[in-house]
Amino acid sequence: MKERIEVDLNDYSFLEEEKEQRRGMLRPVDTGNLLRRIYWLEFECSRMTMGWVASIPDWEKKGELVKLSYLHTTHMKFLEERLDELPGPGTGRGKWTPDTIREAFQRISIAPSIEAFAASYQLAVTKLYDRYARLSGRLDPILDAPTLERFKYIETNRQELMRWGREYVQFASVNHPEHREQFHQWQDYVEETWLTMELHMNSSEEHAPIEWPAFSVERPAGPVPPKAAIDPLYPLVDLTKFKSAMFDPKSPTYDSVKHMVFINASEMSAAETLTYLYYGVQRMPMAFYYDVARHTWDEVRHSQMGVRRLKQMGYKTQQFSWHPSTVPSKENMKTAFPEFYAALTMVMEPCSFIKKRKSIDAFLEHGDPLSSVQSEFDIADERLHVNFGKKWGAKLFEHIEDFETAQSVERKAKQMHLKKMGYDQAEIDKVLHSFPEFCGFATMDLKYDQY
Ligand SMILES: [Fe+2]
Ligand SMILES: [Fe+2]
Repeated sequence: MKERIEVDLNDYSFLEEEKEQRRGMLRPVDTGNLLRRIYWLEFECSRMTMGWVASIPDWEKKGELVKLSYLHTTHMKFLEERLDELPGPGTGRGKWTPDTIREAFQRISIAPSIEAFAASYQLAVTKLYDRYARLSGRLDPILDAPTLERFKYIETNRQELMRWGREYVQFASVNHPEHREQFHQWQDYVEETWLTMELHMNSSEEHAPIEWPAFSVERPAGPVPPKAAIDPLYPLVDLTKFKSAMFDPKSPTYDSVKHMVFINASEMSAAETLTYLYYGVQRMPMAFYYDVARHTWDEVRHSQMGVRRLKQMGYKTQQFSWHPSTVPSKENMKTAFPEFYAALTMVMEPCSFIKKRKSIDAFLEHGDPLSSVQSEFDIADERLHVNFGKKWGAKLFEHIEDFETAQSVERKAKQMHLKKMGYDQAEIDKVLHSFPEFCGFATMDLKYDQY
């Protein structure tokens, strides 16, 4: 008599069961396991690039690093989508970088110089793309086509990611050849660290202690330095004299609508502060990091469009006074992040809508369509950021065990902002609940009829 086979149509657990006789074929669950590792490597690459922004003085290089970090998160999104289609736990049960990968990245990120960091990042990206290449060679072009299609997109970013550190590495210690040897030792150390990580991940003894190679970094140059490195072409405002850089009449656009362009240009300080948030806040849902990476890159773009336009108008960045970024200290780390994020997304960004909106028409009337369209793109981006703020503001307080509702966060953020600007409690209470009057206090208006 034939044996009856029962099939439960709602049970897919067999896709995750161990099967010994698969004869070297990659099952869907295997693809998932391999993709998961790459996913966390991408995340750590995005963390190390974001973490190093404030360690580098060069304004342009800062912006490039943020872009790279953002690109890594776009790869993560592609991988996560595919991981969710495949059997297995998706990006992982812990939803955070596995310890071995985390430790390895920490070891190669805490570097003695920008050049050393560039060498670490270059190696990480090279190894990352090696993994993609090796896996591509193993994936079945029909069965695993949806994975391969995603790899195609990721491949298009390879050049941009690889290019960033090249010059630093090539000319490391070019003026101090006596340090060149040390730099080569660092490169060897990074390579060994990576190898140690791979060996451990591939070994069956998951919990065996790991012997990491040693390299003593006496004074790390990054990541997340206690003081952000400043580009000498962007001299800082004196905050004992002015509430914020935009109030300093020294800047040549101060008395005209063109000050809008300068305000855009100065947004690198917001971007840089966001990099500390991205690197510092641990174990938030991954969608938070996708959103903050996008937000940070947008602020970099706003700064880029502003500086580009100022230069087109014939100005030099040295003629202006620039706002410093806010670096949270060890002591205030816990509250500084949610407070800064809430103030940015619930006060500064919504309030900036008013002058941006007015400047769109004013610029057109003055015959400056590029500045006008910049404000339009700016508003489109800021609308996105305000929504990010609604999504994550209260969660961030909750996450650091300082539970607040979304409403109380908004009130708190507004109060703190006005206090910082030097208003007394009576004045604050008067305007706190009226929009846009509140913004009149929180920011400045522009002279729209002056160009
Ligand atoms: Fe912005
Ligand atoms: Fe923004």
